[in-house]
Amino acid sequence: MERKAVSRIPRKKDIAPKQIPYSTIVRLTQYLRVVEKLNDLGISGISSAELCEETRINSFLVRKDLSYFGEFGTRGVGYDIPSLRLELEKILGLTEAHRTVIVGAGNLGTALVHYDGFKEKGFKIVAVFDSDPSKIDKKIGDFVIESVFMLEEYLNTNKDVTIGIIAVPASGAQFIANLLIASGIKGILCFAPIQLMVPDDVVYSAVDLTTYLEIISYYITNPDARRTGDMHY
Ligand code: NAI
Repeated sequence: MERKAVSRIPRKKDIAPKQIPYSTIVRLTQYLRVVEKLNDLGISGISSAELCEETRINSFLVRKDLSYFGEFGTRGVGYDIPSLRLELEKILGLTEAHRTVIVGAGNLGTALVHYDGFKEKGFKIVAVFDSDPSKIDKKIGDFVIESVFMLEEYLNTNKDVTIGIIAVPASGAQFIANLLIASGIKGILCFAPIQLMVPDDVVYSAVDLTTYLEIISYYITNPDARRTGDMHY
């Protein structure tokens, strides 16, 4: 008799870290957002169904995502919010703040410096650099803008910096990425519209808000294509 393939929830011991899908990591951040919100509201527990409803992610995916990392929650009861929050923070490497530098003190760099959300979520901006002589030594918020020529020296004496944010025009972005990488930075968030070349041991994320606008455009132009349960628009 032909047996039907059944997708099953993986068990932690079966899974090598490299097998954990990127989409799972993206959804973990969504679970964390919900859990943080509920925790801030003083709510101590959440059922599985409520977690699915709050995240708009279906129950199979929620259980599958969490199962990669161990046993969470109690069957029939749900999840204890503070413990789930702590576990998610541990998984995402957020139990200690990531010290972060910003390169490019223009419109975007300035907005990022002023955004308190990074600090709240464990990303502490520690220095801001620019190449424009008219900006160097000027202040943005609490930071004095430093010359990009000092970037390598700064990173060599501040080895605890883990992330570099690139907010310079595309023409200068690879140069800045190279400087960050040569100084030991292993995580780069790049806003410039360019595909950076980075070695395999560097984690690089490119943000292009236009992509999200294009996705929104698709779904408002094609309302029949909208799905619920496992998508955020
Ligand atoms: P901006 O022109 O206001 O600021 C750029 C800053 O980078 C300036 O202060 C300039 O002096 C500095 N800079 C230029 N070359 C540099 C270098 N080699 N080293 C250090 N600093 C350097 O530009 P804006 O609007 O702040 O945008 C910054 C970047 O972010 C651009 O690449 C832009 O295309 C991109 N961007 C991306 C968005 C997204 O959705 N991903 C949204 C907005 C901007």
